[in-house]
Amino acid sequence: MAATSHAVSAAAADLAEARERTLALIARLSDEDVETAHSALMSPLVWDLAHIAAYEDLWMVCRFGGGELLQPELAAMYDAFETPRAVRGDLPLLDRAQALDYLAEVRERTLAVLERRGVGDGELFELVLRHEQQHNETMLQAIMLARLLPAPALRQDPRPAAPGGHTGLESVEVPGGPCRIGAGRFGFAYDNERPRHGVDLPAFRIGRTPITNATWLTFTEGGGYERREWWSDEGWSWKEDYDITHPGGWARGPAGWKQWRLDGWAPLDPAEPVVHVSWFEADAFARAHGARLPTEAEWEKAATWDQAAGRAHRYPWGAEPPCPHRANLGQTGFGPHPAGAHPEGASPCGALGMLGDVWEWTSTEFDGYDGFVAHPYREYSEVFFGDGYKVLRGGSWASRERATTATMRNWDLPLRRQIFSGLRLAWDA
Ligand SMILES: [Fe+2]
Repeated sequence: MAATSHAVSAAAADLAEARERTLALIARLSDEDVETAHSALMSPLVWDLAHIAAYEDLWMVCRFGGGELLQPELAAMYDAFETPRAVRGDLPLLDRAQALDYLAEVRERTLAVLERRGVGDGELFELVLRHEQQHNETMLQAIMLARLLPAPALRQDPRPAAPGGHTGLESVEVPGGPCRIGAGRFGFAYDNERPRHGVDLPAFRIGRTPITNATWLTFTEGGGYERREWWSDEGWSWKEDYDITHPGGWARGPAGWKQWRLDGWAPLDPAEPVVHVSWFEADAFARAHGARLPTEAEWEKAATWDQAAGRAHRYPWGAEPPCPHRANLGQTGFGPHPAGAHPEGASPCGALGMLGDVWEWTSTEFDGYDGFVAHPYREYSEVFFGDGYKVLRGGSWASRERATTATMRNWDLPLRRQIFSGLRLAWDA
């Protein structure tokens, strides 16, 4: 009984912390900014708010608690699959005040369910908690893309100094041979991370850090966006159609290149990983450097595989959950940290910054591992398999610590760059 009530109060505290963050992201924004669809790529922020409530109501109150939906008439409008992003701005959405009420009412129902039933095996609770945390990252993408100010009401942590010497072009060797990939049977993981399986990879080299802004700037100014031979056919036509000449969020000012950050324009920091590049750009950049993007299996091996011990770590540095000196996660960095700023987060092969800072594009198309079983619903990942989505790995500065592991897979289309996406190169050994 004591254990149950301890688990319930821990769950309630986790939910409260996640909610505090959700509300902090929009606290300083005007109603208009919260309610407007700023881009067809992103939902109005107010959609995310009510969607978080609808999801929690469905999974905690109904599926786990056996109750009825609070507002069944809203279910379709706030279902991510039934209502794609591009149309969300045209719907009669709840306004900000209504969405906040909906969030609060559902939360009361959730807490009542937890009191009555405990957390069970914790799986649906974890799904719901991480869902809210992941939407916080999506909301930050929308906030950055629309350049909304003032910045979220978050604590901003001091930025670590640039250690120097990292461009993204330095590499570490990953020995060839068998390793294990994916999430094991125990503990929380998404369906697409399972089953854990063996792969046998030839030796390869992988970037010690992600590619930095300085290195990308050399590419930009060295004709990277003009040299046809570096681009795939699809990438070239995307670049031409959208007149892409530099990463998202960059602009050239009288004083040099600047970059849009969460709190406004700032001079481009040469030491930070480049962010807001599409897969097409990442692929062209790799070709220009006689390199390639890592496959997702290579990425995971470099991030987790301990060759000496013959096993994978849960995190690059070992088993302990993320903390600020090992990885820049949690949003309070307000952007990526300089490449190589967290040597204590090194993976067994010596790669740095595998978790946090920027999502890293891989060459792999998103699909299920052999033996995949959809859980708890097909629309989480299965419906995206084989549809041209590329896998990204490692989370970003805007990912929450709890929602980020080394087996976690993200996916997006190769032309997208609203996501906090960068890259790390790979080479055949
Ligand atoms: Fe969602």
